[in-house]
Amino acid sequence: MVATSDTNLLAGPAPSGAPRRYVYVQTFGCQMNVNDTDRIMQVLAPHNYRPTDDPAQASLILLNTCSVRDKAEQKMLSQLGRLAPLKEYNDDLVLGVAGCVAQQEGERLLKKVPYLDLVFGPDHIAELPELVARAREHERVSETTFTKRKAFTFIEAEPREETRVSEFVTIMKGCDKVCSFCIVPFTRGREVSKPADAVVREVERLVAAGAREVTVLGQNVNSYGKDLQGDRIPTFAELLRRIDAIEGLERLRFTTSHPMDAIDDLVACFGELPSLCEFFHLPVQSGNDRVLREMRRFYTVAEYEETVAALRRQSPGIALSTDIIVGFPGETDAEFEDTLALLARVRYDTIFAFKYSPRPGTRASEMDDTVPEPVKRERLARVLALQDAITRERMEAYVGETVEVLVEGPSRMASKGQAARWQLMGRTRTNVIVNFPVPLGEFWSDRWIGKLARVNVEEAKSNSLYGTLA
Ligand code: SAH
Ligand code: F3S
Repeated sequence: MVATSDTNLLAGPAPSGAPRRYVYVQTFGCQMNVNDTDRIMQVLAPHNYRPTDDPAQASLILLNTCSVRDKAEQKMLSQLGRLAPLKEYNDDLVLGVAGCVAQQEGERLLKKVPYLDLVFGPDHIAELPELVARAREHERVSETTFTKRKAFTFIEAEPREETRVSEFVTIMKGCDKVCSFCIVPFTRGREVSKPADAVVREVERLVAAGAREVTVLGQNVNSYGKDLQGDRIPTFAELLRRIDAIEGLERLRFTTSHPMDAIDDLVACFGELPSLCEFFHLPVQSGNDRVLREMRRFYTVAEYEETVAALRRQSPGIALSTDIIVGFPGETDAEFEDTLALLARVRYDTIFAFKYSPRPGTRASEMDDTVPEPVKRERLARVLALQDAITRERMEAYVGETVEVLVEGPSRMASKGQAARWQLMGRTRTNVIVNFPVPLGEFWSDRWIGKLARVNVEEAKSNSLYGTLA
């Protein structure tokens, strides 16, 4: 069959008679949601749904939601409000909510939002075509039961037509930890690991389709495999070794890792596995032991810093990032200062910092939210200001260095009065964005995409580096 521009390459053959429809998905929150959106597109494609960027063109609109903090949830609700008028113009339109808010709210969301047709949790993506068909029959559908651990099967990702240089592969769902502030165990359920052979197959397929970098995803990747049965279940470190051995894979990353489980094995992988990039996101949350205990994180600041030291011994120059929560219930000024002191000692390359937000059903939400909003705001601003200064210094340190960049694609045209030169962008192994110009002819030739370039760094900005080909 010859593909024309009208053929949905993503979809493959459509069941005969299925009319072509457009789906608009807006994704909120973490990489896990981004990956779920890809699976949503994958299961809809054989039913002749094509993606669109224009909600007005769509006959299916889905918001793939995040509930980790209240703000994310509010953003989703106001977006729903903006989309509501489309329902009046398009009888055929099905409006649905997926992801963590859907899982958490279920039927309640249908009650709260009268024009909403469909609510489904992350465990129900495979059934989406049937759920949409029911909603089209003007039934209001809510599917949020968790699939039992043993019965859960992952949708194996198929490479898209346009495989990106850098792709994500889910290796597990859910989280068995009990961090007192966190809603994820409630919205994503218990940990279920994808069998190692399936993970390896998926990475192999992505590499065959053009991916050069893969990030394996889970809420707590170092507990990978603990739920699987059998006598040859790999640990997370062993899984990384198997992936590292895949021919053609240049770079391997993972996220997220809890500072407690099996961390020594994982530290040992750095410097040993050639594809494993020198970057580690290791959420600490707080620099104070009492607060960590209340958060039920089960490590001390000293233990955490030992892990950081071990990582830096194993892989000097490794880039580190973390998550910080300010204003946890009961956090005093002095305890907050401990977090600033930790940031100053560790000197992360980047951080993600959040004001504590009470989440329904969590243990912490039963404690008094004692830190007033203006204090939370001020603490957040101080954390960010300190980290900005550290990040700037870490970025400046790249100037004069030659770095290996995996080229992802065009960045923007640099018109500095010289002959037209066009910028490509890519990332270092330490996950910093680098922009560099190439001659116009080469820019259009695609010859750089997915290739490793060596770039002399000449300038550091707050979020990215600029340089020229070495
Ligand atoms: N292991 C997960 C964590 C998910 S939540 C992962 O894949 O990253 C991401 C971050 O959000 C957490 O590390 C924490 O810093 C922050 N967070 C979670 N719950 C929060 C809450 N109730 N209030 C503020 N920040 C929160
Ligand atoms: Fe949340 Fe802690 Fe798991 S932050 S995702 S409960 S490791």
